[in-house]
Amino acid sequence: MSAPIIEIHDVSKRYDAGRPALAGLSLEVSAGEALAVLGPSGSGKSTLLNLVAGLDKPSEGGVTVDGVRVDALSEAALARYRRERIGMVFQFFNLLDDLTVEDNVLLPAQLAGMPRGKARARTAELLEHLGIARHARAFPGRLSGGERQRVAVARALMNRPPLLLADEPTGALDTSSAADVRELLVDLNRSGQTILLVTHDTALAASCATRTIELVDGRIARDVRAVAK
Ligand SMILES: Nc1ncnc2c1ncn2[C@@H]1O[C@H](COP(=O)(O)OP(=O)(O)OP(=O)(O)O)[C@@H](O)[C@H]1O
Ligand SMILES: [Mg+2]
Repeated sequence: MSAPIIEIHDVSKRYDAGRPALAGLSLEVSAGEALAVLGPSGSGKSTLLNLVAGLDKPSEGGVTVDGVRVDALSEAALARYRRERIGMVFQFFNLLDDLTVEDNVLLPAQLAGMPRGKARARTAELLEHLGIARHARAFPGRLSGGERQRVAVARALMNRPPLLLADEPTGALDTSSAADVRELLVDLNRSGQTILLVTHDTALAASCATRTIELVDGRIARDVRAVAK
């Protein structure tokens, strides 16, 4: 079997003197998995995601993603890691409202120095694939929540990251938009995209995840693989 894409080894995270946000957590995720992280508020879900994204460092232990020891990277190397190896989707989309949809999606490619023609072609392909091509010239503020989240997913996939991270991707969406985003994530995973997502949405976990873990007090309380669908 190939090396896991995520290897978390005995990680603890303390923000202050109180109870640690993560307490000696170990986890391996294989390429191709869609892992849903569930758990009550404050159980450490976002903390875990932030460590994988290199947005924060563990107090103890190691985080390796795609062969890169993320917790040991310098700031410059971290910026590059985030640009090239991961795509991130957030609850509130985090789009730039004064850029068009097209330019939002294009941005990570520009930052990565992709030649302009190639970046434009990739943008067009993604917008088409995600069903938002007709909104290419619109500003995000004109789009529905579901459409905005599709733009955010397109942006996250721009540089073909081996790992897609999502923190409550349906948390701000109405029922029908949530179903839409759910379907999109399922499709992406079926076509091979590894996904790590944090959610309270059990319907999302049930439909999209090939594996579900539940955090309680910064530890894995449950780890369940879905039967093949
Ligand atoms: N930047 C921070 N500074 C101090 N404490 C923090 C910080 N971030 C998180 N915590 C604490 O760490 C614990 C885990 O927080 P985390 O955000 O990972 O929980 P969560 O499972 O994502 O919760 P939610 O479902 O509410 O988003 C909580 O007790 C929280 O208060
Ligand atoms: Mg959270």
